[in-house]
Amino acid sequence: MASTHGAHGILVASNRGPITYQTQDDGSLQAKRGGGGLVSGLSAIGPDADALWVCAALGDGDREAVRRGVGEDGVRMLDIDAEVHADAYNGIANSVLWFVHHMLYQTPLEPVFDAEFRRQWDAYRAYNQAFAEALAEEAAEGASVLVQDYHLCLVPGLLRALRPDLRIGHFSHTPWAPVDYFRMLPDDIRAELLDGMLGADRLAFLTWRWATAFLDCAAEIDPERYRVPPASEGSRSVEHLDGAAPARTLVGVHGLGADAEFLRARSHEADVEERIVALREEIGEGRRTIVRVDRTELSKNIVRGMLAYRQLLDDHPEWRERVVHVAFAYPSRQDLAIYRDYTAEVQRVADEINSSYGTPGWTPVVLHVKDDFARSLAAYRLADVALVNPIRDGMNLVAKEVPVVSDEGCVLVLSREAGAYEELGEDAVSVNPYDIVGTARALHEALAMQPGERAERTKRLAAAATALPPAQWFLDQLHALEA
Ligand code: G6P
Repeated sequence: MASTHGAHGILVASNRGPITYQTQDDGSLQAKRGGGGLVSGLSAIGPDADALWVCAALGDGDREAVRRGVGEDGVRMLDIDAEVHADAYNGIANSVLWFVHHMLYQTPLEPVFDAEFRRQWDAYRAYNQAFAEALAEEAAEGASVLVQDYHLCLVPGLLRALRPDLRIGHFSHTPWAPVDYFRMLPDDIRAELLDGMLGADRLAFLTWRWATAFLDCAAEIDPERYRVPPASEGSRSVEHLDGAAPARTLVGVHGLGADAEFLRARSHEADVEERIVALREEIGEGRRTIVRVDRTELSKNIVRGMLAYRQLLDDHPEWRERVVHVAFAYPSRQDLAIYRDYTAEVQRVADEINSSYGTPGWTPVVLHVKDDFARSLAAYRLADVALVNPIRDGMNLVAKEVPVVSDEGCVLVLSREAGAYEELGEDAVSVNPYDIVGTARALHEALAMQPGERAERTKRLAAAATALPPAQWFLDQLHALEA
């Protein structure tokens, strides 16, 4: 029988791919490569595996690259209609699914699931269908497909319908909503989401907290079609009762860790050393530092972090002029008004603290908003305290990266709502991210910690943070799917 199947044995699908293109003034295209867990994972399986990464064209440069047929081996970019992509990505993925899983709504007035929402949902479905079709076309018989994140929740089900022979996995890089919060979604929409996810042979999450939340949601949708049996020997699954393939979906956890080897080498390159000198100058001689590095993301809780810092200066005036809050807040999702407003609020609160508390020789908050990886690493190296206080976070890799590169040990002030808390909580100073007074107390405790204890804790944090390096994280998922 002639096969119309593609040639790839391993496929990865994600909205954001490993490469982006920008059109230069002379009309040429410049490629920029990204990093992250998936990139190191795919390089770990080597070129012989003939893997393919399917991603969306995100900007004009990417679209132009697709049109000109410019590209890289192993990457297929989908030129999905720009408006469809915007409705799916900004409208549904980032304004609904992200909000649901991170519990970001101000519920008296939102969410509002109106006709406009339904229109955007159709776009989300079309965008997922485009991924499913591309994957169906490219995958070899029996290939393994690893679908990523909340952008692509419908892909497993849609792809299963096209290619029942494939092994399909889905990985969530975000938290999963608690069942009462998830229930805000219209009934047909949440059923479609869960059906989409449960088209996979295996679903994976960053921590058991999120995996369990998913199982709680799955147990509720339709007891005649899905059953969630109790855990047996630590393994969890969802059984499909209506005879649809697969007979069950396994649920597992892979806690992505920091890439120690890469970080340690990269953080000692010349550009990082230069940034350290410049930062020291900005901070001032002999001062302590409370460092944070984030995308300017609603869930990261940057504003409350600054309010807690201000509280610290009120409760412990002895720290005035002796500490600086170094906050790097890099632009993210600026197409959304609420992110632009949040970015402005971060700036406003930083300015307010500086004008109320600053002195001629001391700027209490040093805020940088221009993304600069080398400077982030410089701040990691010299941090006395790292503040990681998200209101909810799938993992939070900053919490794992800082202890790995810290020069002299760093106290981690960590929100108990970050996924990383499961692995790092014991050696961190933990905070309730909503509690400003409590966070100020934690900052004081962290600043006052003795160097010996601080170094011991940092060592243990670094060990826990690197337990599952990105390449192994990826291979574990692949092997679990193939088993
Ligand atoms: C989170 C998501 C990722 C996403 C990243 C950056 O970590 O889980 O899927 O890529 O944020 O967000 P962006 O919208 O810029 O891709």
